[in-house]
Formats: sequence, C-alpha cells, structure tokens
Amino acid sequence: MAYVAPGADSLRTRGTSDKTGIERMPRGGYDASCLDRLLQTERSEYIDRDADGDGDDGAAARRQQVIDALDWTGRFFRNHEKFAAIALDLVADVPDPRIVELGAGHGGLSRQLLHDHPSARVTVSDVDRASVRALTAGELGTHPRAQVRELDATAIDAADGSFDLAVFALSFHHLSPAQASRVFAEGTRVADTLLIIDLPRPPAPLHLLRLAAMLPAAPFVPFIHDGVISSLRSYSPSALRSLALHADRNIEVELRSGLTLPQIVIARRG
Ligand SMILES: C[S@@+](CC[C@H](N)C(=O)[O-])C[C@H]1O[C@@H](n2cnc3c(N)ncnc32)[C@H](O)[C@@H]1O
Repeated sequence: MAYVAPGADSLRTRGTSDKTGIERMPRGGYDASCLDRLLQTERSEYIDRDADGDGDDGAAARRQQVIDALDWTGRFFRNHEKFAAIALDLVADVPDPRIVELGAGHGGLSRQLLHDHPSARVTVSDVDRASVRALTAGELGTHPRAQVRELDATAIDAADGSFDLAVFALSFHHLSPAQASRVFAEGTRVADTLLIIDLPRPPAPLHLLRLAAMLPAAPFVPFIHDGVISSLRSYSPSALRSLALHADRNIEVELRSGLTLPQIVIARRG
C-alpha cells in the first residue's frame, strides 16, 4: 500500500518544498511498519508559529514559554554541556574552529561552546526573526567571538566551506522531508562537518508508551504539547539515511544513538 503524506506543514522557512518522492517518505523511513506510519503528524508546534504576530496574541507568549523551557531543561539536564562536548570533539584538531549554530533558539548551546573553547568563533543563527532579535539583545550580541545572524538552515546564506562545523540541535524534526534533506546539502556545503542532534524515534510500541505518558498534559503545558508533536515528527535512522542520500549521494553519514543518548547524526561530503 503506497503511503501518501498529508500536505506541506506550516513551517516558516524560505526554502522551497519540492514535490519529489522524498516528501512522501514516512518519518519512520520507507521501511517503517504500519503502526509507525500512523505515529506522525503534520500539526505545527507552538514554536513553529509566527511570533511576530499573525493575529494570535498568545502565539508569541506560548512560543517564548517553550523556548525558555528548552533552555531550562538544557541547563538542568546539562544538555548544553553534553551537546557542546559532542560538537567540540568533532573539531578537536582545528586550532580556532569556526562554528555555525543553526536553529539556535535561546542560544544556550552557543554560549556553552564559547565558554568551553577559548578560541572558537561562533555564528549563532535562527530562521525566526524574534529569536534573532532576542539573541542580539542578549550576551551573545556583544560577545567578541560571536556573531548573531538570521539564517535558514535549508538555504544557508554563506559561501562553501565557511565553517569547520555546522550544528543543528533539537530542530531537525521541525522540517518536512524535502526541507530536512536540504539541510544535509546545505550544512555539508558551508561546513566540513554537519552535526545534527535530535530526538530519537523509538520503535513503534515504545513510541506509543512515550506518547501515552505525555498526552494527558499536552493540552495544558505548551512544552509538553510541542514535545508530543516533536516525537511524532522525529526521524528514524533509516529516514535520516534516505534524507542524506536524497541530498547528495556523496554525503557520508554516521549515526549514533543509545538508550540515554539523543539521535546524533554526523555528516560529511566524501
Ligand atoms: C525546538 S527549537 C531548538 C532550539 C535550540 N536549538 C535547542 O536545542 O533547544 C527549534 C528551533 O529551530 C528553528 N528553526 C526552525 N526551522 C528552521 C530553519 N529552517 N532554519 C533555521 N532554524 C529553524 C526555530 O526557529 C527554533 O528556534
């Protein structure tokens, strides 16, 4: 039975959504089980809604609540530190690494990278104007080794080889398959290494349990609401490989995961 994905999502991005077969790929990959194919959605998260005002007065507040909660959990569970360590390990041989963080949101990971590496230069970016304004107004806006920019991860406004590393944390699942595939192409074009860190997509029965645990609080807590949708939009290892292959067959992908690890994707052009 052929799987047909619902219409394009409402993600704000300047990238064009192509209509090739990749857009029809299930989040669990072409080899996903029937149950896994049911566990996906095209609903948008609060974080994807227009914080610059699209008539919904609460949109900006709910988006900010989710961004703040992500920053808080990043500090509380030390994710900023863990993600920075994974990123810096990939540029351990580069004396003064040039790093771009895509989809930086609150900027917690970039702050950690600058703290943990004495000479790294970090371009902190997001596609969302309100986030870029907040990052510019915060400590990253005046940090001597940081530059804040508005960048779309699917169409990065930078020359080939501008960076040693591009990192995209907890953001990849926001993108439709065609857009996500563009990130592989663009990330490996502007940087020697692309690091994607995202939610793992568990096997379908475990996934059901995770969703069942979160669903009761989803209508009341914006962070959980977005967590449920994120979970349904997370990509499986098989899907990640197909997205990279669709972008360019010269892209080599290394996947790391584990019970307590997020999904880690390291991509380079061969
Ligand atoms: C869930 S937040 C993650 C924030 C932060 N990276 C973290 O680890 O907590 C997702 C971020 O991705 C950004 N985003 C979504 N689509 C994007 C795109 N096409 N290019 C760059 N950033 C994007 C959103 O604006 C948002 O700030």
